[in-house]
Amino acid sequence: MASSLRRPWSRDGKAESGSWWCTSSLLVLVLVGFLLQWNELLYRTAPAQLKHLSSSSDFGILGVPWCRSRNDSKVSWTRGDLIQGLQEFAPIYDMRPIKNNRFGMGFDHSFGLWFMARWIQPEILIESGAFKGHSTWILRQAMPTKPIISITPRHPEKYLQKGPAYVDSNCKYLAGKSFIDFGNVKWQDLMEEYGIKDYSKVFVFFDDHQNELRRFQQARHAGFQHLVFEDNYDTGTGDHYSLRQICDQRLVQGGGHSCSKDSKEALLRAARRKNWEKAVDIDELCGPGGAWWGVRGQMRDNFNHSFVHITQEEHLENFKQIESSLEVYWELPPIAAPSLTHQRRYDPARATDPIITDNESKLFVQLGLSSLDKDLFNGYTQMVYLKVSQ
Ligand SMILES: C[S@@+](CC[C@H](N)C(=O)[O-])C[C@H]1O[C@@H](n2cnc3c(N)ncnc32)[C@H](O)[C@@H]1O
Ligand SMILES: *[C@@H]1O[C@H](CO)[C@@H](O)[C@H](O)[C@H]1NC(C)=O
Ligand SMILES: *[C@@H]1O[C@H](CO)[C@@H](O)[C@H](O)[C@H]1NC(C)=O
Ligand SMILES: *[C@@H]1O[C@H](CO)[C@@H](O)[C@H](O)[C@H]1NC(C)=O
Repeated sequence: MASSLRRPWSRDGKAESGSWWCTSSLLVLVLVGFLLQWNELLYRTAPAQLKHLSSSSDFGILGVPWCRSRNDSKVSWTRGDLIQGLQEFAPIYDMRPIKNNRFGMGFDHSFGLWFMARWIQPEILIESGAFKGHSTWILRQAMPTKPIISITPRHPEKYLQKGPAYVDSNCKYLAGKSFIDFGNVKWQDLMEEYGIKDYSKVFVFFDDHQNELRRFQQARHAGFQHLVFEDNYDTGTGDHYSLRQICDQRLVQGGGHSCSKDSKEALLRAARRKNWEKAVDIDELCGPGGAWWGVRGQMRDNFNHSFVHITQEEHLENFKQIESSLEVYWELPPIAAPSLTHQRRYDPARATDPIITDNESKLFVQLGLSSLDKDLFNGYTQMVYLKVSQ
């Protein structure tokens, strides 16, 4: 995740003294109070009105589709495994060399990456997009002895001059002058160098903000089967086309959107927008001509340095292509409910139920998560695991 944390409350402002200031702040307070109550009202009533839009197979109350898994295939881990994993991971995370990984991964995705890499037990790990090397360190904690290949334009050692970074001694860096984009690497030759014949023993992690449709195709073409994408942005958000966006289709239950300004979705979105930073209302969701797919009809790429407009038919074709070779699609749930983490960024209506629910504050404390900085829970963007069928 790369977008900077917006902190509207930390904006510079000169305090002025005198009664004018007092009266106006009082007015503001009253207004804010009123707005908060109004919000609460909307927040409480809207979901009830919209219950019929969702079912237990959807994400949240707005109804978000996931990519269908083949033959109803499921991941082999359970919620119990995740909780046990959290218990083990919390003290490991505490030892991380890069304490402030702003613009990089926070707690939720660090755990997800560690958990999945360790569960899958690969012989080799590949990452694209390393930044200062926090994710490399996470992969190393998951698999202490296996080789890592890290692809990233700027070598993490460059960051060492300025502060904490992580450089791994059993990692081949395709970085700096040796940088090659994932799509241009001769994977067969490279895997041969490492003696890898069974590609189900390769774990691939993308955090490079490139069009995920392209990355999926490249990884599938190489024959890789276990893929994890860090930033799986929701429809209407993000700087690159994501799996979540691709699977958001009218023909899927809970999928597709209406750009009608007086729809129930519009009403609910407006309410959610007030409480959750990343929520988008119907005006932000929809581009010219009622284009709601991707981001306002755009298929974004490369940190939004480029994008193309696609038609709904093209969007559907992309989905069909992915679906035809996808065996499993699994979104990491948020680690804990917002009432515990106090995060205000992702909208829980657009996410699966958290691993640790509102009523489990004891567990949250037991696992040592209550002592983590709140900002660390701000980076959740639906990290996704994909099993590709060959
Ligand atoms: C959000 S950061 C990665 C954060 C990192 N995974 C962490 O530990 O939190 C994105 C990284 O992708 C890199 N990047 C940009 N273009 C890339 C490309 N084509 N292939 C691989 N990495 C790329 C950027 O330089 C940056 O280091
Ligand atoms: C999916 O299910 C069908 C019939 O139930 C079976 O023939 C097929 O082999 C299964 N495919 C996979 C990939 O498991
Ligand atoms: C993405 O790029 C387009 C075109 O340059 C720009 O209009 C838009 O504001 C950008 N969005 C973000 C979130 O950076
Ligand atoms: C906590 O709430 C969830 C649903 O939100 C429920 O499934 C679970 O059984 C509850 N746990 C306890 C201990 O009450």
